[in-house]
Amino acid sequence: MKKFYLTTPIYYVNGAPHIGHAYTSIAADVLARWQRLDGFEVFFLTGTDEHGQKVEKAAAEAGLDTQRFTDRVAEDFRAMAAAMGVSNDDFIRTTEERHKRACIALWERLVANDAIYLGHYEGWYAVRDEAFYGEDELVTTPDGTRLAPTGAPVEWVREPSYFFRLSAWQEKLLAFYEQNPDFIAPVARRNEVLSFVRSGLTDLSVSRTSFTWGIPVPGDPAHVMYVWLDALTNYITAAGFPDEADPRWRFWPADLHIVGKEIVRFHAVYWPAMLMAAGIAPPRRIYSHGWWTVEGEKMSKSLGNVIDPRELVGEFGLDPLRYFLLREVPFGNDGDFSRRALITRLNGELANDLGNLAQRTLSLIARHCEGRLPALGESTPADAALREAAARLPALLRERIARLAFHEALEEAWKTVRAANAYIDHQAPWALRKTDLVRMNTVLRVLADTLRVIATVLQPFMPASMARLLDQLGVPEDARDLAALAEALPAGAPLPPPSGIFPRFVEPAG
Ligand code: MSP
Repeated sequence: MKKFYLTTPIYYVNGAPHIGHAYTSIAADVLARWQRLDGFEVFFLTGTDEHGQKVEKAAAEAGLDTQRFTDRVAEDFRAMAAAMGVSNDDFIRTTEERHKRACIALWERLVANDAIYLGHYEGWYAVRDEAFYGEDELVTTPDGTRLAPTGAPVEWVREPSYFFRLSAWQEKLLAFYEQNPDFIAPVARRNEVLSFVRSGLTDLSVSRTSFTWGIPVPGDPAHVMYVWLDALTNYITAAGFPDEADPRWRFWPADLHIVGKEIVRFHAVYWPAMLMAAGIAPPRRIYSHGWWTVEGEKMSKSLGNVIDPRELVGEFGLDPLRYFLLREVPFGNDGDFSRRALITRLNGELANDLGNLAQRTLSLIARHCEGRLPALGESTPADAALREAAARLPALLRERIARLAFHEALEEAWKTVRAANAYIDHQAPWALRKTDLVRMNTVLRVLADTLRVIATVLQPFMPASMARLLDQLGVPEDARDLAALAEALPAGAPLPPPSGIFPRFVEPAG
């Protein structure tokens, strides 16, 4: 069986999960579910990033013991993933023993390969980003404050530190990007990485001595490992590293790391360099998505506009939220979350276009075909055109999803939804009932078959509602993957009574 290893970033546990985190996880989930539907053996990993100064500070501010604090927030992230329908196969926490073991093993290999040395770090550090910045990267505000390019406050750090010889990897990384042109996407992010690496790499500080919340450096416990070295390692920990006999090790290298645009450098530069330095294969691909604002503004605690995705699920339902997040904005671009835009898509595309199509088709079958799947009669050009459009969907979506163009995948499905709506209006099966029963049956059967394909390919986006639609179409649970579409359902199969899948959203009065 073809394998596919896919990851989300692991989330910092310094605060509660919000819509930005849910977005990364839902997009990865759609891809994981699609690959399973398409016959791959998938390993889908998510989890939490629990060490470092930022988390230590958040725990102190909450007045809690750091481990207890991370236990609590990690649980909340786990619950968020479940509430978003995320079908991860593993959930990794960086405070787990298996992870400490993997980090120590990786460190020791780097030391053995002379990729790490002890020195002294002096420079700028932003706790919020857990990142070191060069003098030339800082920006100065009108009042003279110096900030990281991300807007995070920086502090001057001066302490002994272990360094990773990143400078030795500049040429090898450039050659690697050259040989693997799809390694970083979209292309704007690839270009940023290329120019960053071309501008010259300096050795990377990979340990800290000014706090203790981290994994101690083997043989020198005054140091804890830099949180990004620790965090990135999660992707091999979960694959069993350093135990190469672990059944999951065959999934390495990962096929895809999905990441937000602000953490591309860590994944596309530091991570492959560290792995190659340790003699481990780098991941195959990094894909970066953009950032959401909310009603036109950046999300922030101080503005009080941070959205808990679970509240949106309570109000609109999970599948409409998943659909909206992937339909509204091309993956890779920034986007704006607005209630109005979500309601427009829910009522227009889900309730009207797809919901009504299903409801009209299924209630006509219930009423006029004794609730049984009708038989196909002779085919007209209009029938053939719709059947062919539906038959093309799996390949069309496969190509778009492989490019992570989720919005295009959905648009392809909706072209067929709209074609099916035009077909039902034009064929008017309700009128055929009185004139030509064989023709009515054929039209309803063409529609049922088209809906089956649509519901099958949309399962990764909207798992629960498409399962209900497939139930109503009488598709057995073991005939819901792409391969199963090759086989037609037998005419005469009894269908359960139809019920609406996407209720219209009506804004509560007051
Ligand atoms: N812990 C690191 C990742 C380590 S991976 C080895 C981290 N965590 S994070 O919690 O800050 O961010 C995790 C993901 O959430 C990132 O992909 C980030 O882009 C995403 N988002 C956080 N806020 C976001 C928005 N407002 N919009 C879209 N995604 C954003 O970085």
